[in-house]
Amino acid sequence: MWTIGLAVVALVVVYYTHLIFKWRSPKIEGVLPPGSMGWPLIGETLQFIIPGKSLDLHPFVKKRMQKYGPIFKTSLVGRPIIVSTDYEMNKYILQHEGTLVELWYLDSFAKFFALEGETRVNAIGTVHKYLRSITLNHFGVESLKASLLPKIEDMLHTNLANWATQGPVDVKQVISVMVFNFTANKIFGYDAANSKEKLSENYTKILNSFISLPLNIPGTSFHKCMKDREKMLKMLKDTLMERLSDPSKRRGDFLDQAIDDMKTEKFLTEDFIPQLMFGILFASFESMSTTLTLTFKFLSENPRVVEELRVEHEAIVKKRENPNSRLTWEEYRSMTFTQMVVNETLRISNIPPGLFRKALKDFQVKGIHCSSWLDSNACDSCYSVEP
Ligand SMILES: *[C@@H]1O[C@H](CO)[C@@H](O)[C@H](O)[C@H]1NC(C)=O
Ligand SMILES: *[C@@H]1O[C@H](CO)[C@@H](O)[C@H](O)[C@H]1NC(C)=O
Ligand SMILES: *[C@@H]1O[C@H](CO)[C@@H](O)[C@H](O)[C@H]1NC(C)=O
Repeated sequence: MWTIGLAVVALVVVYYTHLIFKWRSPKIEGVLPPGSMGWPLIGETLQFIIPGKSLDLHPFVKKRMQKYGPIFKTSLVGRPIIVSTDYEMNKYILQHEGTLVELWYLDSFAKFFALEGETRVNAIGTVHKYLRSITLNHFGVESLKASLLPKIEDMLHTNLANWATQGPVDVKQVISVMVFNFTANKIFGYDAANSKEKLSENYTKILNSFISLPLNIPGTSFHKCMKDREKMLKMLKDTLMERLSDPSKRRGDFLDQAIDDMKTEKFLTEDFIPQLMFGILFASFESMSTTLTLTFKFLSENPRVVEELRVEHEAIVKKRENPNSRLTWEEYRSMTFTQMVVNETLRISNIPPGLFRKALKDFQVKGIHCSSWLDSNACDSCYSVEP
């Protein structure tokens, strides 16, 4: 009895050591860059999800660059990954988007957006293309020119006037609510002023527990987050069904376009559209609210820039016949200095530390092997950080 028990334990130990060995030094044809694979399963995820405190390069990347150089290997949320901050390598990766690599989001994203089975393998590319076109349609330059500009102007006037009466405000928080109310309105007609629920709070809660290990078991924050997300998706689906059954509720927003496109795009099902709306809210909300918050920070630190902006804007108002008329597209285009400030803010507040790409097949770049060596779902990924 004892001997059998011991043998089993020994086998288990051997098995695990073997796994760990495989983990630490993945067996592939070709050279891998230096770097540590961390612990089995979790890899270096914990170090990665600790947020950076400054606007400098993410500390995870910075520390490893100093130790290993611009290209290193690591493991995040269960996936072996190559991180590159190398200009040539990143350029190569970007040039081979769609042929050698495709955009990839952490598996928690895939789970989050329930891209399972067939959809998950085939559709990410198609869906990504569709996403680009539909978001450009509703949030791009043309729509800014045609309809968004006065709406944004109104939103800012109302909110700035409101904040001005409140004494000190938590900029990140009030901006998040403003951005959420606005984008949710453009996406599915959310009427913040007359809604019983403060959806921006639900949404913020989901986001805050989102970047956690994708362990969907009761008690974890990811589990909680998935539950809250289900609720939100159900609400979005109810909105969709309402529109489908009662065309008089149409308002020409994002949701209406998605409904029209259901005829031509196979993947736009009644279950997928809510996920799409959720995803777009996610992408727009987090990036816009962070960038806008940082804009406040930068401006408060650079009074000369604020002064210069004031001069530019006052000159525009002076030229108007009616100083209270709305901002026109031509006026907006004429704000050269303002655009420079916007560009510079976008440059330095580059929010995600990088973007993931998944290797579609084996290839070599700069002598480094990127491969899809596990199976079709679990790929070695190239992760690139803008230099
Ligand atoms: C956003 O919506 C909530 C209700 O969901 C409302 O209480 C709040 O005033 C709105 N805020 C802004 C800035 O529009
Ligand atoms: C939003 O949160 C409130 C309070 O936690 C909850 O009662 C409500 O069901 C949530 N709504 C959605 C759509 O998730
Ligand atoms: C800001 O960036 C955009 C896009 O990169 C560019 O087209 C534009 O010329 C830039 N504007 C200024 C004033 O530098």
